Amino acid sequence: MSQCQHQTIHQKDYKVPDYLVDTVELTFDLSPEDTRVLSRLAIRSNHDRSNGASPLVLDGEELTLVSLKLDGVEVKRDAYRVDDASLTLLAPPESFVLEVETRIKPKENSALSGLYASGPMLCTQCEAEGFRRITYFTDRPDVMAVYTVTLRADKASCPVLLANGNLVDRGDLPDGRHFAVWHDPFKKPSYLFAVVAGDLVHIADRFTTMSGRAVQLEIYVEERNKDKCEHALRSLMRAMRWDEEKFGREYDLDTYMVVAVDDFNMGAMENKGLNVFNSRYVLASPESATDDDYEAIEEVIGHEYFHNWTGNRITCRDWFQLSLKEGLTIFRDQEFSADMQSRPVKRIADVKSLRSAQFAEDAGPLAHPVRPESYVEINNFYSMTVYHKGGEVIRMLQTLLGREAFRAGMDLYFERHDGQAVRVDEFVQAMADAGKRDLSQFMLWYDQAGTPVLTVSDDYRPESGSYTLTVTQSCPSTPGQPEKKPFHIPLAMGLLDRDGNELPLQLAGEAAAAGTSRVLELRGETETFTFAGIKERPVPSLLRNFSAPVKLQYPYSDEDLNLLMTRDSDPFVRWEAGQVQAVKLIMGLTGEIQAGRQAQVPESFIESFRRLLADDSQDRAFLAETLTLPAESYLAEQMAVIDPDAIHQARELVRSTVGRRLWSELTAVRAACAPKAPYRPDDGLAGCRRLKNLCLAYLMAAGGQEAIDACMAQYRSADNMTDSLGALAQLTSCACPERDEALASFYDCWRGDRGVIDKWFTHQALSRLPDTMDRVLALLEHPDFDLRNPNRVRSLVGAFSQGNQVRFHDAGGRGYRFLADQILRLNAINPQIAARMLTPFSRWRRYDAHRQELMKKELERILAEPGLARDVYELAAKSL
Ligand code: PHE
Ligand code: ZN
Repeated sequence: MSQCQHQTIHQKDYKVPDYLVDTVELTFDLSPEDTRVLSRLAIRSNHDRSNGASPLVLDGEELTLVSLKLDGVEVKRDAYRVDDASLTLLAPPESFVLEVETRIKPKENSALSGLYASGPMLCTQCEAEGFRRITYFTDRPDVMAVYTVTLRADKASCPVLLANGNLVDRGDLPDGRHFAVWHDPFKKPSYLFAVVAGDLVHIADRFTTMSGRAVQLEIYVEERNKDKCEHALRSLMRAMRWDEEKFGREYDLDTYMVVAVDDFNMGAMENKGLNVFNSRYVLASPESATDDDYEAIEEVIGHEYFHNWTGNRITCRDWFQLSLKEGLTIFRDQEFSADMQSRPVKRIADVKSLRSAQFAEDAGPLAHPVRPESYVEINNFYSMTVYHKGGEVIRMLQTLLGREAFRAGMDLYFERHDGQAVRVDEFVQAMADAGKRDLSQFMLWYDQAGTPVLTVSDDYRPESGSYTLTVTQSCPSTPGQPEKKPFHIPLAMGLLDRDGNELPLQLAGEAAAAGTSRVLELRGETETFTFAGIKERPVPSLLRNFSAPVKLQYPYSDEDLNLLMTRDSDPFVRWEAGQVQAVKLIMGLTGEIQAGRQAQVPESFIESFRRLLADDSQDRAFLAETLTLPAESYLAEQMAVIDPDAIHQARELVRSTVGRRLWSELTAVRAACAPKAPYRPDDGLAGCRRLKNLCLAYLMAAGGQEAIDACMAQYRSADNMTDSLGALAQLTSCACPERDEALASFYDCWRGDRGVIDKWFTHQALSRLPDTMDRVLALLEHPDFDLRNPNRVRSLVGAFSQGNQVRFHDAGGRGYRFLADQILRLNAINPQIAARMLTPFSRWRRYDAHRQELMKKELERILAEPGLARDVYELAAKSL
């Protein structure tokens, strides 16, 4: 019943706040069991009072109110109301000081929102609406204030006391306690507030900004992790320099602190001057971190740093504008990573994750626009769509405007809106003004959900040498949006002749050809583009660099794809041509398997792999991407009714055939990639390791003791985590005695390292073997498994249900029951994490009737649970 009370918040209902808060003075008496918070707010009215004063409604959850004073006087009981979500002053004066004293219990806070305990420390997480779990406040991003924070705690257990801004005072107190006072001169919304207290150590360095100011950089961790922070610190310095060079943005406080905590719902949080990080995005040592870990740390450190301008200096007016900061900051961190590593490989990785996760979200019952119209629980909208499609929308702006005008638009945005809480509209307006472009149709990318489909056809006229591309766009309906208007889409393209030469591009009506790569702009439902001076039928190279988040349909022949794969100037198109071929092949095999026919991998496919393996001129990481088959989840997206067993069998058939037929080639490439010197994370050989481990995976797919021996040999001799896990991952999917031996030895070796043990759980959850469900159930009982730790939940429950399609979707339904059981347990512990685990169930309509029935039953079981959290309720209800 109570579930009907979950309210929907609508974008159209936005109202400016009735009251503003200019300054916030907070005093914390910290203790894990019972923390006292004293808040002193300078408040002033922001509404027309000719008809009397509006009530002041302060948000507050899970708080015990101790006392309430207005301008120093205790507020009378009949002048305010308190319930479990708010404190209301019925008729406050025009401007006043409010003093509120509350008590909270950090240790009992398993939702990890507000003030909570993580291991031996206390820390906060306020985005989106966690500040109201610390004290009563107008907890919305358009109320910005200057904060001064006093922390008091036991000196022995909490020697380090941190908050936003600058340390202005500290000293000892009686009874073994001490205090610290922090002041943040920048006005900020409450979601950027943070405090951390605990027994921490730090490493530090100095950064000199482009204008010559010295900034103290500090990374705080528990003592045992002190030697694992170097990479995070170096990454931070690179990010700071990069933002100066690429965007002209300089850091603005005297210190920048990063704290690593083991219990964290998301990746990290950009609190002003005091980022709090999930420890997996800070800690790395050469023995315990993989190449991917190193990259991810650099990226997340960059992301949170870039938020200082895109998010903190300019923030969101309301949570519907979340992509204003997240889409833009994702774009910035992607560009940063591209500059630090290989740009094409980074682009491919980003497109892969967008297409397998965001496209699926956009095609299902939880589809929502980059700027949603409504929500029940805002935490559910920290989604692939808001973040990653939002990032693509920014990238399209750059593609449409060109780099220079885009940069001018960024400058204009900073100049106009520094210190403000704004909407997406203000950002796009700055781009429109700087680029002198009409971007009104472009705004549809923010307000219409769904992935557009581009259907391209062409017509070549040898008599006149003209070549016409006809592009039609359509977009499927999504919940609440049955009809879509056409989008404004940048389509980057080129034309190749039969020898693979790029043709100069001259559109009909143009005086001369301009370049060999162009951005065509689609605005209408159907657009045609005619090129002149084309001497033979060309092969179109379309959607270069994945210039828009769309699905592309063009009837390429195998010959066309081979040409693009080997000759196109755009690395994304080269890679994509290979993927299109692989998808075609595997989908064909899937059909054969479903029909009960003998499926076989054609010779031509093996031959193209053979050629690729022989080509040592290519970048190793790029080659590895080219040789990686599309993921089962991506293949699933291509099917009308997903058949996880047939997809799995078909893909495995290709893998084992490649392994058997190309055994010696794979072995040779693997040998050529073997290390010649001891491992260093920055040795520039990550691409080699990736390729080598991919080769090993193909050899293991071929089967046989020789492969197992090679795997074990690599596992035993590895001097780095990438190689050791590369071998372990293969062994966990192999029904051989070596499997348990390696898993046991790995556990013994790494039992003290949480991050590595997460991987030990993950790889077992990802095992392709039929007994995986039983193993996962057994691991739930493992002493190291802990439902209260989000990373551990993701590493077992998340990995199995989201990363192991074939075993999770077992037609017996055990996987479904398992997941629903865990969601119900998590509902009572951590609603945000529980809700995130629902993702696989939201896709239930894509499966056969039998699986649909089973998943639907589990969703209904979840919805019937009394006391279901808002987070879980919203997603489960919308999924059904
Ligand atoms: N704002 C954070 C980021 O993207 C993500 C986050 C959201 C973290 C909510 C915690 C809670 O960098
Ligand atoms: Zn972010």
